[in-house]
Amino acid sequence: MKTLTGVTRIAGVMGYPVTHSLSPRLHGYWLHRYEIDGTYIPLSVRPEGFSKALAAIPDLGLFGVNVTVPHKEAALAAVDTASEDARRIGAVNTVVVGRDGDLHGSNTDGFGFVENLKAGYRGWTAERGPAVVLGAGGAARAVCAVLIDGGVPEIRLINRTRSRAEILASDLDGPVEIVPWELRAEALDGAALLVNTTTLGMTGNPPLDLVLAALPSVSVVTDIVYNPLETALLRQATLRGNPVVDGLGMLLHQARPGFAAWFGVEPEVTSELRVFVLDGLSG
Ligand code: ATR
Repeated sequence: MKTLTGVTRIAGVMGYPVTHSLSPRLHGYWLHRYEIDGTYIPLSVRPEGFSKALAAIPDLGLFGVNVTVPHKEAALAAVDTASEDARRIGAVNTVVVGRDGDLHGSNTDGFGFVENLKAGYRGWTAERGPAVVLGAGGAARAVCAVLIDGGVPEIRLINRTRSRAEILASDLDGPVEIVPWELRAEALDGAALLVNTTTLGMTGNPPLDLVLAALPSVSVVTDIVYNPLETALLRQATLRGNPVVDGLGMLLHQARPGFAAWFGVEPEVTSELRVFVLDGLSG
């Protein structure tokens, strides 16, 4: 029988609601897989109590936490130090307690995005060509920042609310061109990468309405939506022969740095892990 012990390392995820988070299942898999005396718990923390709850984790002996909706921006303000990525993106998703009890925040979404693309499409690099990014929320920020860092020649940023795209473009210093939402189909011409970071296509939301005719057939298409795993966008892209990378891997890869920092093992993203986490989506 496996139980917790007096020296069990504790980490978790703070969100509100936190009930749909797949992170406990994901980290729980790795803890079991690597036989680590650790646990990763869901922490349902209301927005009004968030900064107090986060400030308390060193005193409680936690090794750190992931932070999810709606706390990612508040977490940036609440940590003692933040990585450059977190500051650029304006949000923290991973908090590590330092030796001195300080809270260090980082944002691993961009890392997860790139690692997922590299794992799903051999030899992928941002330098391959222009990228079309749909959306201008937190996920789009992480994606654009990491594409710019990877040397993308051009980002065509397309959002329903243009002003949000403008703010994103001015916050991130890079080759970002804003294209009106109405011209999204035309913007696919000559693109090497198409990324959906909007919530369109997610179960319960309308599908993304986008005609792919202008997209070169060698362009990589990826969706950060992973519920369903094959969105209408990915299905349409597959049918016309484009290479596609689904969004589940971004979730799995973004979790790696936190796990390594808290539990001392570099975890691997495997097909068995994908299946295990997917079972949590349907259950
Ligand atoms: P996150 O931070 O997780 O990326 P978000 O800030 O809620 O989430 O962003 C959701 C994205 O989906 C936004 O780009 C949003 O567009 P707006 O900025 O115009 O709101 C986009 N989105 C959501 N519903 C949409 C819809 N019906 N049509 C077009 N875009 C939509």
